[in-house]
Amino acid sequence: MKNFPELPSKPALTKVGESRRQVFFMGSILAGAPLAACVGSGQSMGDLSESKNSTLAQDNAVMMDVILRVNKRNYALHIDARTTLLDALREQMALKGTKKGCDHGQCGACTILIEGRRINSCLTLAVMHDGQEITTIEGLARGDELHSMQAAFIKHDGFQCGYCTPGQICSSLGMLSEAKAGMPSHVTEDLNSPATSLTKEEIRERMSGNICRCSAYPNIVNAIDDYARATS
Ligand code: FES
Ligand code: FES
Repeated sequence: MKNFPELPSKPALTKVGESRRQVFFMGSILAGAPLAACVGSGQSMGDLSESKNSTLAQDNAVMMDVILRVNKRNYALHIDARTTLLDALREQMALKGTKKGCDHGQCGACTILIEGRRINSCLTLAVMHDGQEITTIEGLARGDELHSMQAAFIKHDGFQCGYCTPGQICSSLGMLSEAKAGMPSHVTEDLNSPATSLTKEEIRERMSGNICRCSAYPNIVNAIDDYARATS
């Protein structure tokens, strides 16, 4: 018969209350360990994990050179390859007109135009757009003269706080080009010959990716409708 090694003798347990106290004591020591590491360093728990994450992020950074052409001007950047186009615009080029709302492709606040097509700049990497023609809200006006779509938004009161407005304006211009190119939408009745002059229902549907938390929607639609009629 196989000989099993002898089990170590059980630690002498005293009263139930005492062993419970030991468990709680050990638990509190273990739980407090990270806290203790923070005490005296002047860091909070959040700071500690944040700085650990940012150190990790820096360790994994792959830096790349890229030339971004924004509003007809070239910007030579040396950036982490994981930088989104939105962050590059706002943090590297100081073009703060493009807004960050959700940072997850859900609100449309960061919409800009690339080669005339609308895109959520929070969902694309800056290094993917080397040499492409990028237009942000800052690139629409000509000197002191507003772009007609900007003027239409003012005329129709198409905003309240204005946070979503740069995205709405860029998106509306991209959207009208899509319609002109014959791209149908979810509410287009005849897919074989989609209308190029848009109804308000079409405008609403095609702009549904741009959220306005102030709910200026009726005026936004009126502004786009007005511009579309004036330029068709
Ligand atoms: S910030 Fe890009 S879609 Fe919301
Ligand atoms: S105007 Fe305030 S979010 Fe649209």
